[in-house]
Amino acid sequence: MDKMTVRDIEVNGKRALVRVDFNVPLDEETGTITDDSRIQATLPTIKYLIDQGAKTILCSHLGRPKGKVVEKLRMTPVARRLSQILGQQVVVTRDCIGPDVEKAVEELRGGDVLLLENIRFHPVEEENNASFAQALSRLADIYVNDAFGVSHRSHASIVSITNYLPAVAGLLVEKELNTLGGILENPAHPFAALLGGAKVSDKISLLENTMSKVDCLLIGGGMAATFLKAKSYETGLSLIEVDKLDTAVGLMEKAIRNGVRLLLPVDVIVADEISAEAKAKTVFIENIPPDLRIVDIGPQTIENFSRELRRCQTVFWNGPMGKHEIPQFSEGTKSMARLLASLDATTIIGGGSTAEVVTEMKLADKMSFVSTGGSASLGFLGGRTLPGVEALLDRKS
Ligand code: 3PG
Ligand code: MG
Repeated sequence: MDKMTVRDIEVNGKRALVRVDFNVPLDEETGTITDDSRIQATLPTIKYLIDQGAKTILCSHLGRPKGKVVEKLRMTPVARRLSQILGQQVVVTRDCIGPDVEKAVEELRGGDVLLLENIRFHPVEEENNASFAQALSRLADIYVNDAFGVSHRSHASIVSITNYLPAVAGLLVEKELNTLGGILENPAHPFAALLGGAKVSDKISLLENTMSKVDCLLIGGGMAATFLKAKSYETGLSLIEVDKLDTAVGLMEKAIRNGVRLLLPVDVIVADEISAEAKAKTVFIENIPPDLRIVDIGPQTIENFSRELRRCQTVFWNGPMGKHEIPQFSEGTKSMARLLASLDATTIIGGGSTAEVVTEMKLADKMSFVSTGGSASLGFLGGRTLPGVEALLDRKS
């Protein structure tokens, strides 16, 4: 990585404003954290700063409060969890800027950790507002971006802040960029990308950018329907991106030109509705009834995909294979998760719902790497420069 990290600057005794992605899932009723992976992932940076005697000021968003104070989206449960994990008290402020926050910062000693209130309670955060970034910058001497999952966003605490403080990468951002960058630059072959999720449009740049690097593309999930339609199959009531049919044709032709094996489902689960009560059956793709929709890949497809993946040395996976939230449509997604966990290969899981599935199945530690960024990892692998990374100080050669 060509950016400076927290290891490259003096942090002892300094006030370090660390942007983290503590946008963790909360239980709707109890408000407790249901998956703390994103907190765990920032521990290397936080512990490094504690050990080095820095005064750590963490800031994050939680959910999408749309610029207003939403009681349910306060950072209190995150502070509580982080305190437990670190075994030291993490105080949480009632706002993220202003005199009270400045006073709390003044009271910090080397090794202390403070967590600021949800930064998206201020509408100016998402507007990349300069005055807001300046107010934040007054709290600190240095800025550390460890929020990989938000680095695709030009927000004040990600981009504008870097105009007012020396800005370096945290250890999670470094690890994400090195790992994801590694599969683009120097993957062990055969290299497969297993892609699913609802939309082709989310994955086009990734498909374009990796076509010259992968040996094999396996396409399942909702997006497979658009590919099947582009090959003139009946797809029933499945959601089709009509404006992406030509793109799908183009991608399939490009795969042939590049010698990339592109596997689509040969059988699918179809259902009359997307619900736990739905009537479902398995059909070959030649026989998709006009009044049903695709909800998962079928057993023959699972076998075909598994056979292909077992030959691979590197596998990148992003996007579920079907409507996995509903147990009877989750077999395709779960089979892929189990299969990847069993491989003796480099297995890299894109963030978002794919990471959630793997974590929920307690398979995360069986994978080589689980990214904390959904859109951020897709953007990066799609060849997009992440504004939050771009803005950091370059490493001097
Ligand atoms: C995420 O969960 O993808 C990141 O925290 C970014 O959140 P956002 O999509 O609300 O910007
Ligand atoms: Mg997102």
